[in-house]
Amino acid sequence: MTKVLVTGGAGYIGSHTVLELLQSGLEVVVLDNFSNSSRESLRRVEQICDCPITLYQGDILERATLDAIFAEHSIDAVIHFSGLKAVGESVQEPLRYYQTNLGGTLTLCNAMAQAGVFKLVFSSSATVYGEPSTLPLKENFQTGATTSPYATSKYMVERVLHDLQLSSTQWQIAILRYFNPVGAHQSGLIGEDPNDIPNNLMPFISQVAIGKRKQLQIFGDDYDTHDGTGVRDYIHVVDLAVGHLKALKQLQQQPGVVTYNLGTGIGYSVLDMVNAFEAETGQSVPYQIVERRSGDIAAYYSDPSKAFEQLGWQAQRGINEMVADTWRWQANNPNGYDN
Ligand code: WQD
Repeated sequence: MTKVLVTGGAGYIGSHTVLELLQSGLEVVVLDNFSNSSRESLRRVEQICDCPITLYQGDILERATLDAIFAEHSIDAVIHFSGLKAVGESVQEPLRYYQTNLGGTLTLCNAMAQAGVFKLVFSSSATVYGEPSTLPLKENFQTGATTSPYATSKYMVERVLHDLQLSSTQWQIAILRYFNPVGAHQSGLIGEDPNDIPNNLMPFISQVAIGKRKQLQIFGDDYDTHDGTGVRDYIHVVDLAVGHLKALKQLQQQPGVVTYNLGTGIGYSVLDMVNAFEAETGQSVPYQIVERRSGDIAAYYSDPSKAFEQLGWQAQRGINEMVADTWRWQANNPNGYDN
């Protein structure tokens, strides 16, 4: 395998994955519409690894753009990140979420089939599990009891990919269910750059630390967890990126559709993350306990053993690297890529 198309390759997880692909000697073509990403992230990826990236600016729904990419490049496999991912926003704009996340994947798979490309790594989410009846979450647990159009769109795509492969066994597909991606590449040159007020915990913490936000609001401290605040399985984005490379390489041997949890298997609470951030960076993170956020659950963490057994993949970076790398990116780039 030599050339990989990465849709959404300029995004937070996409850019970190593109870097791992390039550093492993693969050629990369990126399609991105820059709706929630920056061209600058790819320039910096090229700077870090001194490798060229072929870039197409366009939307995953543009079949003609996809056809042009497959006509102009001999693509061996596709890693599909392009999509909308804000849970709250998806409740307000379900059609846009289903159109982009589900419709975009249908458009991509049609273009791939026409071009004779049948290796696909799909960016899914642990939210397809819905409210867990027990923890840790395993890949064979029930899915589908999802609670937002975002999560349901990811669940629907997973179902489509299973049906597609049953209809046409030449498809080789890896579905990767992410837990909570955090952190940044150790260079401090690429990282998470939310468009406006961060929904997620870690970018909010780092924006409080740098003085961009006044204080962190902790959504509830009355959950049934060790300190009452929500527990999640935070995974370093570089570990996540390496997981994509391992899954991609496994596609050669892996018939059918295979699903992996990409998490550490360790649950940390909100206060654990705040305390680790302050201890590791020396920055203070003032916070206030407020009401629970609707839709949140107490605890969510993975059993990542299947990826270890089948891919030889395991998260290598712990909580201290997660917070230290987050801070280095934030401190070096107070305004993200718009410096
Ligand atoms: C983590 C914890 C909050 C912000 C979401 C999506 C999921 C995935 C990852 C795409 C929770 C608490 C947060 C804040 C807080 N994205 N929190 N104050 O909700 O676990 O998952 O992002 O796949 O689909 O649902 O992540 O970072 O929003 O919250 O107290 O300002 O931090 O209550 O306990 P979440 P999160």
